Amino acid sequence: MTRIVVFLLWIVLPPGPLFSAEPLLPLPPPPAVSRDKAALGERLFHDPRLSGSGRLSCASCHRLESGGDDGLPLPSVPTGPYPHNTPTVFNAVFNFRLHWYGDLHSLQKQALVALQRDMQVDWMRVLKRLRADRLYPRLFKPLYGIIDADGIIDALVTFERTLVTPNAPIDRFLRGETAALTPRQRQGYRLFKQYGCSACHQGANIGGNLYQKLGIFGEYDTRDPGRFAITGKSEDLRIFRVPSLRNVAVTAPYFHDGRVETLEKAVALMAEYQLGTRMSKEDIALIVEFLHSLTGHYRGRALGDMP
Ligand code: HEC
Ligand code: HEC
Repeated sequence: MTRIVVFLLWIVLPPGPLFSAEPLLPLPPPPAVSRDKAALGERLFHDPRLSGSGRLSCASCHRLESGGDDGLPLPSVPTGPYPHNTPTVFNAVFNFRLHWYGDLHSLQKQALVALQRDMQVDWMRVLKRLRADRLYPRLFKPLYGIIDADGIIDALVTFERTLVTPNAPIDRFLRGETAALTPRQRQGYRLFKQYGCSACHQGANIGGNLYQKLGIFGEYDTRDPGRFAITGKSEDLRIFRVPSLRNVAVTAPYFHDGRVETLEKAVALMAEYQLGTRMSKEDIALIVEFLHSLTGHYRGRALGDMP
């Protein structure tokens, strides 16, 4: 009897946070960090003297006044063209692995790779320069003692931990403020769940916590071997880390190779290759409106409206 009542309630009541476990979660608050280390890390993040050429900083490719990416299909790193689109640094702290292949397990390792590969760091020269600087020795002293690679990386990572973007309409909605999403965005969210997008793009970062194949229903047109390049196992061909969709409306272009220019196109390709279905223009439009509700705030401003 109780089972029948529960079942009747289940079909009569509209889905709501009380009755359905939401696949998306509000963004957690940023991890607590030392403010002084974060401030030092912010300075280093913007300092081109860390690069071999003296012209490139982390911020050259990860522009914090826009989406935390570079807006380009592909970056050019000092060694030549690089085959992967630059992801945002915002909320990277919440991803279970880093990079498109998800081969890096920590922000520390990532920062080292970024300094070496993307910036061609010459450690001897960088340390000499920073130690001779007017400001850096005074900033490093109380926090790390001397200026060395470990301290530089620790400060950079501490700053990256502060790069979170709370307060997106979706977060307010998930906390119970229904009107934070427009009626069309709510419809888009319903479709996002019904079609099964949330099977892969889920959790607090709306992605970033799984590996999945690109091209489950049909071979996606790319030469990129995916995680096969890391593991050499045939089952890893075309497997990528599922990207976070937070702030996706301000981080075009899309996909690992940056070939997809618009969200409409990205959603249509996802429907076709990941879910084996064709979506109507209207459903695509509704989901895209929903994706716009995933844009959060950094330092009090919505990402797209940054100065
Ligand atoms: C020349 C452009 C360029 C520069 C300079 C650069 N990056 Fe990146 N960054 C990239 C690209 C491209 C990727 C993706 C690499 C991949 O997946 O193969 C990336 C990935 C990342 C990621 C991983 C994000 C995620 O969720 O997977 C973080 C974090 C990051 N960079 C931080 C930094 C830091 C810190 C610096 C400075 C020390 C830096 N980057 C310098 C282009 C750049
Ligand atoms: C089976 C898992 C899976 C499903 C289901 C799925 N996605 Fe994806 N999604 C991925 C993967 C993997 C990528 C990365 C593609 C690449 O490597 O180029 C991605 C990329 C994206 C991107 C581009 C993000 C960026 O920063 O480049 C968007 C937007 C997106 N998905 C939206 C959706 C929507 C909307 C749906 C539902 C219609 C959906 N996805 C369904 C796995 C999935």
